[in-house]
Amino acid sequence: MNALTRDLIRLTEKAEKSADADSRFRQKIHLMPPTGWLNDPNGLCQHGGVFHAYFQYSPFNAEGGVKMWGHCTSRDMVRWEYQGTALYPDQPFDCHGVYSGSAFAEDGVMYVYYTGNVKLEDREDYDYINTGREANTVLVTSRDGQNFGPKQLLMKNTDYPPDLSLHVRDPKVWKDHGTYYMIQGARTKADTGQALIFRSEDRINWTLHNRVETEAPFGYMWECPDYFEVSGVKLLLASVQGLTGGVWDERNVYQSGYFLVGGDILDEYRLSEYRLWDYGFDYYAPQSFETEDGRRIQIGWMGMPDCEEYTNPTIKDGWQHCFTFPREIFVEDGKVRQRPVRELEERERQIEDVQDDAFSGLFIKEGYPVYDLTVDRISENRFRAVLADELVLEYTGRRFEMRFLNRNKSSVSAGRGLRYTELERLENVRILADVSSVEVFLNNGEYVLTTRYYPDKACVRVEAEGAGVKFNIIEG
Ligand code: FRU
Repeated sequence: MNALTRDLIRLTEKAEKSADADSRFRQKIHLMPPTGWLNDPNGLCQHGGVFHAYFQYSPFNAEGGVKMWGHCTSRDMVRWEYQGTALYPDQPFDCHGVYSGSAFAEDGVMYVYYTGNVKLEDREDYDYINTGREANTVLVTSRDGQNFGPKQLLMKNTDYPPDLSLHVRDPKVWKDHGTYYMIQGARTKADTGQALIFRSEDRINWTLHNRVETEAPFGYMWECPDYFEVSGVKLLLASVQGLTGGVWDERNVYQSGYFLVGGDILDEYRLSEYRLWDYGFDYYAPQSFETEDGRRIQIGWMGMPDCEEYTNPTIKDGWQHCFTFPREIFVEDGKVRQRPVRELEERERQIEDVQDDAFSGLFIKEGYPVYDLTVDRISENRFRAVLADELVLEYTGRRFEMRFLNRNKSSVSAGRGLRYTELERLENVRILADVSSVEVFLNNGEYVLTTRYYPDKACVRVEAEGAGVKFNIIEG
């Protein structure tokens, strides 16, 4: 440990001690930072039965700053316990941030790969795209997930293809038939996004194996790529920056989605059109991992970078952002779907189950901020819900809308307006609400819309004539 690490540890602990533990919008079942700023999920894995989740963390400033890796563990993915900061920006090759990366656990060892971010000193002739920065691939290992050995610099910008800009980052590692593969996001000098795949026999020496891109340029940068297979369906994930025009202008500033992969990602491949993971306001940089029982789980950052449209009032309370609730990715009827991890159900208590004739078509519940509400057997697309009097979820005009009635930055929306997904037929809606977030799953998770919100009072009102409603609360 060097002198800088020691000081960063001390300063981080001090900032955490002075955090306001009772600020009113603190989440109950979503992972959030003890203080300061959180962004991407990193290093997600299950290691020796325990779930580990790291997060991009700036403890000194709720609006961001130099990034470290905060560390949480859980036995059920519902209750997360903060373990402290695991990785600090304390080396010449990561001094402007321990940027995003992944964990690969094998034989009792956790191999963590991340991007060491370096921004050179302010100079007018640096554009910080092709000049003035470094993106280093770094390896560090641990047995317990909290104490790490020395950092090892594996690759520098000169080890990446020469037609790339200096934006290459976010390594995610997996193993296939005895060989290790690493995918990284990249921006070319010609400003197109793509993913690089490296291979290794020993987890340390990596060589470029393949480059993955769309036929026509798609955005200028792909961040946080990921690759996995569920039920024989192959998915390539990317958080894409630089999509503009047409429908993109009605969506978030950056997107998170996936391509279905035909052929072989390691060889000849074909990418489908891009599909969004989430049609709401706050969803970016998701990462996946496989549980010991074989489920593919994905967690996203419930936030959005470079967003001027809306904000979060928790900044005043000294913190900002949280993760999405962990979602199982599964395939049913040939469609890729998402649902909250099943462990949630063990923490739920049913308050209402109104079915068939007992349901008048109007359901109102007040006083419960954390709940899991399912409306099923929806007929003729008749569905409207209003949360906290200001957030409307509604099927209207062949689409499902998430709409705030007041866009004022000091209102429940904190500036959010409208998001939607087109939809032929609405069958069921599941709403997972926490103190300051709402995740809405449509048609058994075929579409999802996620948003932060800042209600004064907890209440939900559902109009769905002919449907059935189940209302479960989640014990803290
Ligand atoms: C995505 C991202 C990553 C980067 C990290 C830095 O939100 O920009 O590409 O590694 O955040 O915090």
